[in-house]
Amino acid sequence: MNPFRFLRRSLHWRITFLIGTGMLVLAAALRLSSLWESKEISARVLSERQGLARAVADHLDYVLQANLILLQNVALEARAGIGEEDIAPLRASLREAFLRSIFTGGIFLLDQTGKRVWSEPQRSLSLPEPGKLPLIRQALASGKPEVSNLVPGGRKIYAVVPVRDWRGKLVGVVGGELDPESSRFRSLLHPLRLGDTTYLELVDGQGIVLASTRKGRTFQKSDHGRFLRRLIQEKRSVVGTCHSCHEEGGVPEREREVIAFAPLRVAPWGVSIRQAEKEALASVLLIRQRLFLIGTLTVLLSLLFAWGVARSVTRPLGVLTQAAQRIAQGNLDEPIPALGEDEIGRLAYTFDQMRLALQDSLATIAEGKRDLEKRVQERTQELERLYRELQSKEEIRGELLKKVITAQEEERKRIARELHDETSQALATLLVSLETGVATAPDRLKEHLYRMKEMVDRTLDSVHRLIFDLRPSLLDDLGLSSALRWSAERHLESLGIDLSFTVTGVERRLPPEVETTLFRIGQEAISNIARHADAESVRVVIAFNEKSVCLQIEDDGKGFEPEQVVQAGQGGQGLGILGMQERAALLEGNLVIQSAPGRGTRVHVEVPLREGRKGGGL
Ligand SMILES: Nc1ncnc2c1ncn2[C@@H]1O[C@H](COP(=O)(O)OP(=O)(O)O)[C@@H](O)[C@H]1O
Ligand SMILES: [Mg+2]
Repeated sequence: MNPFRFLRRSLHWRITFLIGTGMLVLAAALRLSSLWESKEISARVLSERQGLARAVADHLDYVLQANLILLQNVALEARAGIGEEDIAPLRASLREAFLRSIFTGGIFLLDQTGKRVWSEPQRSLSLPEPGKLPLIRQALASGKPEVSNLVPGGRKIYAVVPVRDWRGKLVGVVGGELDPESSRFRSLLHPLRLGDTTYLELVDGQGIVLASTRKGRTFQKSDHGRFLRRLIQEKRSVVGTCHSCHEEGGVPEREREVIAFAPLRVAPWGVSIRQAEKEALASVLLIRQRLFLIGTLTVLLSLLFAWGVARSVTRPLGVLTQAAQRIAQGNLDEPIPALGEDEIGRLAYTFDQMRLALQDSLATIAEGKRDLEKRVQERTQELERLYRELQSKEEIRGELLKKVITAQEEERKRIARELHDETSQALATLLVSLETGVATAPDRLKEHLYRMKEMVDRTLDSVHRLIFDLRPSLLDDLGLSSALRWSAERHLESLGIDLSFTVTGVERRLPPEVETTLFRIGQEAISNIARHADAESVRVVIAFNEKSVCLQIEDDGKGFEPEQVVQAGQGGQGLGILGMQERAALLEGNLVIQSAPGRGTRVHVEVPLREGRKGGGL
């Protein structure tokens, strides 16, 4: 799992983190540079300390050198005097040197065997055996001035200068005894005013303190004895901080110190300046402390600043986000507050303009929608009105059609009755008269009358056919199937067409309008077969169902395109088929004509039977 995931999810934390990290890096860099700076300062302080130690060592060198010169002068005096009887001048010079030098213990002259020739002051000086003082042998061997370490037994220091005769041969030594406790020697280390914890020490080549600005340190072993001994041997200056100042056993642990050490050139000694680190590097420590304080404060302030910057960005963004959510939820009324003149402020302003524009367009759309709805409603009402109008017109048309058809049927009936009662009666009477006339008339008229009788006979036949077509009495007397069968036989069989006639279901009398309608439809279909089909066989089926009656007339003739006929019917053609459809429709029946060129024709009509169907026969 990514530990920085929270940064990806929060802009606030991201900005805080980035600025904070930048500030921390800056603070760390500053801290590093200040550390480096304070190191530089402490190095400078240390090098100053070293310079100081060097200066003190130089001063001591100078004093020792001057005293060795005094001894040297005595040695020059002594090269003539040694071995002479009269040593008065030599004594005088020894005395003078004793008074002027730092050799408060006394000055002495030894011959080359180490035997004392003279010493000043005569009494107080109790020289150690020359054999026990390696320094004298050393000086006699090397021929150079020598300064000793602290000689253990007597807590004294000795300096010797070799004496040469005129030929340069070593004939003895002039020496001086130094008492480290003498005030003249002690005054060599003037206390340096460097602070409360600073002290100077003069250490000999054995690590023993010869003089110290601190009380009680003289003749003690220095706590850094071994180290200082080596430095003195190697004639090396050194400066540093002492971290574990407990080298030689028995020396109590001390606080951290700054030590600057410089060896002397003339004597096997060295000068050390020591000071508590706290004091020596007080300024550096103070700088470090202050820097730490300033650094911590800077980091805290920078984090606060980063947080503030992040907040100044994310707060208006939060306001904007809330506004966007409100708008997404459809609340366009609440305005987006002004968020200043910066980029986010401008964004908020633009966003608010967008909100207003959106509000405007939504209002326009709503108005348009209302307008449209109103118009649709008006249109629907208009259509409903038109539909009702059409329906009532359709009803009226149906009524009219019904009336027309009824009137037509009535007229047919009337004409048929007239033809039957008047014309066919008259023709029958005429026929009987003519038959009588043929029997009784003279021969010359007989043939004439006979032809007349024949003509009347044929006319009577066609009147009967006309009467039947107009209104077959069979339909009223025997019903649909008998009338239709008779009509089919009469029209089709005379044309040599093979006719099959089937009745299914329970044959019964139907309401007169149903019978008339189905008869007229059948009559038209049969007439069409006779006139147009060129058929060889025809099949008629009447099906008496429980709730409807079906009539189907099918031929195997040449067929036709019913659609074309119906369209062409507009111009006056195909009124027969149209009439069939109208009649079926008046009884809420359904008429289907299936036909195609060369495939025969099938006319199928179904009329529902409803109880209480009203209306006269059509
Ligand atoms: N059984 C049929 N076989 C072939 N053609 C037919 C048949 N019935 C109708 N038609 C065709 O349909 C046309 C329209 O018939 P119809 O509406 O009865 O008008 P009409 O009989 O006066 O021509 C006819 O002219 C004929 O071409
Ligand atoms: Mg026809």
